[in-house]
Amino acid sequence: MSLEGELVVLREERREDQKLFAALRNDADTQAWPKALPPDYTEEMHVKRLEAREFSFERDSARLAIVEKASGRLAGFVSYTGEQHRLSASIGIIVSKEFWGTGVAFDAQETLLGFLFDELGLREAHLWTHSGIPKAIGLAQRSGFAVCIRLRESVFKNGRLLDAVIMSLLREDYYARHPEKADRLPPIA
Ligand SMILES: CC(C)(COP(=O)(O)OP(=O)(O)OC[C@H]1O[C@@H](n2cnc3c(N)ncnc32)[C@H](O)[C@@H]1OP(=O)(O)O)[C@@H](O)C(=O)NCCC(=O)NCCS
Repeated sequence: MSLEGELVVLREERREDQKLFAALRNDADTQAWPKALPPDYTEEMHVKRLEAREFSFERDSARLAIVEKASGRLAGFVSYTGEQHRLSASIGIIVSKEFWGTGVAFDAQETLLGFLFDELGLREAHLWTHSGIPKAIGLAQRSGFAVCIRLRESVFKNGRLLDAVIMSLLREDYYARHPEKADRLPPIA
């Protein structure tokens, strides 16, 4: 099954995607977090990680490849982790620089959120970013995320102290932004 947005399709990750995913991890511009340094991740490490996954009906995470519909090209990936059944999950996104500013990232984020709220029935989604990436904060705000925690001077990148920023989006705020959709889960009393 793939998830379809306006500009992108989100599909399962494949062996052949891992070359780009390793490159995104090794590029200081696309790797948001300093703890991923040094940039020596290999394609083989990524393949090993993919192939180490075990079959389970108890899924609490997924990484989905972002494919631009118009060109069929792989643009990056979105993910969710730590999903607590019908409650909460953390999301992440990395898009290749050639797709920055094209709307691909926003559409991928919105498509993932549709899956998390419509299909998995979450009450809340959140993400971690930092004050050194205004684009990530802007992208999240565009989908309705609000800053809920700021951990001042807790990130060190490019020789600068930065604030870790946690942003969250509640289910009701997601559906308020999507009047074309109906929330089919009753609110918790
Ligand atoms: C974060 C990322 C997915 C954003 O995708 P993008 O295509 O570059 O984002 P956009 O150009 O659409 O910008 C997103 C929003 O931030 C705003 N923005 C861009 N630069 C900004 C700046 N310097 N200050 C404030 N807002 C800014 C844009 O205006 C846009 O909002 P709008 O659509 O309402 O105008 C992409 O840059 C990326 O993959 N970065 C590396 C990985 C990363 O940082 N991941 C997420 C954080 S962990």
